[in-house]
Amino acid sequence: MNDIYILGIESSCDDTSASVIKNGEVLSNVVAGQEIHRLYGGVVPELASRAHESNIVPVIDSALKQANVAKSQLSAIAFTKGPGLPGSLMVGVSFAKALSMALGIPLVEVNHMQAHVLAHFARKSGETPNEPEFPFLCLTVSGGHTQIVLVKTAMDMEIIGHTLDDAAGEAFDKIAKIMDLPYPGGPLIDQLAQSGSSQKFPFPHPQISGLDFSFSGLKTSVLYFLRNKEKEEAGFTEKNKADLCAGIQATITDILIDKMEKAIALYKPKDIALAGGVSANSELRRKFGELADKHQINAHIPAFEYCTDNAAMIAIAGKFKFDAGVFSNLLASADPRFTG
Ligand code: KG4
Ligand code: ZN
Repeated sequence: MNDIYILGIESSCDDTSASVIKNGEVLSNVVAGQEIHRLYGGVVPELASRAHESNIVPVIDSALKQANVAKSQLSAIAFTKGPGLPGSLMVGVSFAKALSMALGIPLVEVNHMQAHVLAHFARKSGETPNEPEFPFLCLTVSGGHTQIVLVKTAMDMEIIGHTLDDAAGEAFDKIAKIMDLPYPGGPLIDQLAQSGSSQKFPFPHPQISGLDFSFSGLKTSVLYFLRNKEKEEAGFTEKNKADLCAGIQATITDILIDKMEKAIALYKPKDIALAGGVSANSELRRKFGELADKHQINAHIPAFEYCTDNAAMIAIAGKFKFDAGVFSNLLASADPRFTG
């Protein structure tokens, strides 16, 4: 049987990434972040698409070099169709189409959110597989999305809960901004919380029925709380940074875990999985493991490098479609609200 080499291309937000996989094993996974957005406290779409344009050629080149694979060996190109920022997506889609035409190989379009879920199937040669078994429940938490997904198969997923306003990562980042912390604030809150107590500043939990989430109320309550405290005592936020971060992180992760526990009661899965950039959060990882232990089920948390946006997950998702014979064509376009 011929070896199958797939090049994955990811450009949905502010990371340009390319990955080469061989028969489902990751040979390379190159990610170029975009520092420029730190200056503005958030992703600036115009700047993101421009940075993708200058990054995409060197990123793909180094993914091929690291994998020691020539362009002529590639069997297919998988790319992120959406959801994401229109201008950013367009850079990856156009490049994937041009390369597939030049090489005469098929194109596979991938849903970015489904790829986050399928990141659980990414592994390097020699690594022992620790893949969730279908059907499983996946909590996908990123800067743009917060979902509980019933994953029936690699290509059949149903969203059973989602956020009604901000995504969990967005909540971390916006609250960090209120606290004057640099963007993206999620990893910083995680780091500062390590030396704080979550008991000192407890924040209220929203009362949302079913499996949906809401985070905008927390953002507002932190804003008003800090505004009042700063009036009483200038420098309050700076002085209590660690305890505030611990309290905020505990609230966001409790909201996520509470809904996941409800979903477990309803769907009774054997396996649960965590995906998306916020799955890098240490407190969430810890609580997720505890939740699985409590219900005597298996928790799957992806390796750190496959949590945040990366092209290995796009290549892996592409491999599932490749194996099923599901291909795209040169009429493919970016879809910022892609749900397919
Ligand atoms: O999946 P991702 O890389 O990009 C999107 O598709 O959105 O997720 C990025 C999000 C950002 O909001 C970032 O603050 C958050 O993931 N994040 C974290 C941590 N690491 C990344 N949030 C909390 N704790 C972390 N350790
Ligand atoms: Zn993402």
